Amino acid sequence: MRILVIGAAGRTGRHVLDQGVARGHAITAFARDGAAPTGVAGLRAVVKGDAARAEDLRAAVREQDAVLCAVGGSAIARALIEVMPEAGVRRLVMTSSRSVTATRPRLAVGLAWLRFRAVYADLARAEGMLQASGLDWRIVRAVMLVDGPAAGAVHIDRAADATGGDWRLTRADYARTLLDVAEDDTARQSELGVGGPARGRGPARRAR
Ligand SMILES: NC(=O)c1ccc[n+]([C@@H]2O[C@H](COP(=O)([O-])OP(=O)(O)OC[C@H]3O[C@@H](n4cnc5c(N)ncnc54)[C@H](OP(=O)(O)O)[C@@H]3O)[C@@H](O)[C@H]2O)c1
Repeated sequence: MRILVIGAAGRTGRHVLDQGVARGHAITAFARDGAAPTGVAGLRAVVKGDAARAEDLRAAVREQDAVLCAVGGSAIARALIEVMPEAGVRRLVMTSSRSVTATRPRLAVGLAWLRFRAVYADLARAEGMLQASGLDWRIVRAVMLVDGPAAGAVHIDRAADATGGDWRLTRADYARTLLDVAEDDTARQSELGVGGPARGRGPARRAR
């Protein structure tokens, strides 16, 4: 697939670039610092720009099969919703946070909302915009992202307020799930929560 990766210089974005190239995709890296992703071999292209600006995105989305956002937010969602239909590109994988829709464990979710209210409110706005967009959106809500070696498995919840799995997820495993979702022809207009593999509570689902 031809995939435009937004947030390509970020910690998750770098994993998406590496894994996407390894899977044989034609990956275009989009980053505010155009020099940041240059260490990744095998990229189709690197585009420098601000993903919150439609004019920066317009040329980059042309001739892509999908856009994968390794960074969330309503300003980016708004710009993509403007330029993707113009370019005839429909598939959009968007990063979000599990806390946006989670209701349990009540205390942990409440404390997280107290601390990150503005971030979660903006991600909720982004989700609502995508759901009303008519695009082939896929929302992937992550628990707390950490660095470290990939587990090679994740826990996936389909119910929006479910809170299964470990509350920590490596960025490498999250990147793998984002790519799985981008590739999945059956995942049109879907949302899922992703956590680390549950510890001692039965088998976790492999990301792929
Ligand atoms: N951290 C968590 O525990 C957690 C949990 C759930 C979900 N998330 C979501 O997961 C995302 C990825 O996490 P991460 O830790 O990998 O993030 P990260 O390392 O901070 O990377 C985010 C990247 O996005 C880029 N970016 C931000 N706004 C942009 C814009 N307007 N145009 C182009 N690029 C832009 C940043 O670019 P610059 O380098 O130019 O700033 C940065 O390279 C987060 O953005 C958050 O929405 C995080």
